[in-house]
Amino acid sequence: MQQMWTDIDAYIESHLILEDPILIQTLKHTDERGYPDHLAVAPNQGMLLQMLIQMNQCKRVLELGTFAAYSTMWLARALPQDGYILTIEGRDTHATLAQENINNAQLSQIIELKCGRAADVIRDLPSDTEAFDFIFIDADKQSYPEYLELSLNVSHSGTIIVLDNVIRAGEILNSENHKPSIEGIREMFVAMQNHPRILSCTALQTVGSKGHDGFAIAIVK
Ligand code: DHB
Ligand code: MG
Repeated sequence: MQQMWTDIDAYIESHLILEDPILIQTLKHTDERGYPDHLAVAPNQGMLLQMLIQMNQCKRVLELGTFAAYSTMWLARALPQDGYILTIEGRDTHATLAQENINNAQLSQIIELKCGRAADVIRDLPSDTEAFDFIFIDADKQSYPEYLELSLNVSHSGTIIVLDNVIRAGEILNSENHKPSIEGIREMFVAMQNHPRILSCTALQTVGSKGHDGFAIAIVK
């Protein structure tokens, strides 16, 4: 099935997703540096993130887990001139690569990259930090329950929170899989259920060039 999913993603992209030299350059540079591409969102997923931001006229975006800043650039392209993205990356090798990609794309005006554990960086934000309108959680899956709570603390009513990779080829249902990353996702589902600060939430399975995975999405009450 994987080949068909990949071919269909290519079909969707060739029809609906305009090639952007900056995004292509980012993937090329990331590949040249020897980093794998499976960690990045697919272009049609990046477009969905961009559209969610546009639909809601978001201006302040928080991203947990930058990797090469490819998803960050999709988020950035949705923003008006006075938009702002804070993106947080835990691994300094990834952060170095991400900053190179951001600089090459001339997006350092709107994208601020901080290196550190996302939970620490969010806790250390100044107390007068304005709430974010859109939050993309894509860092270590083990910490998703903690990231969800911290994200709610820097949200306002109507903030949209999207969490990447919440299906993991169905491993969330494999009762023999107790990897911290999988347990973290299961705990995130439990935490979302009837959460007093969440207005509505759902999750969607996806198949495509990145395999079988999915997004969860929540609107803050
Ligand atoms: C992995 C992490 C991601 O954020 C992703 O989109 C795909 C894979 C991983 O850690 O394997
Ligand atoms: Mg991801």
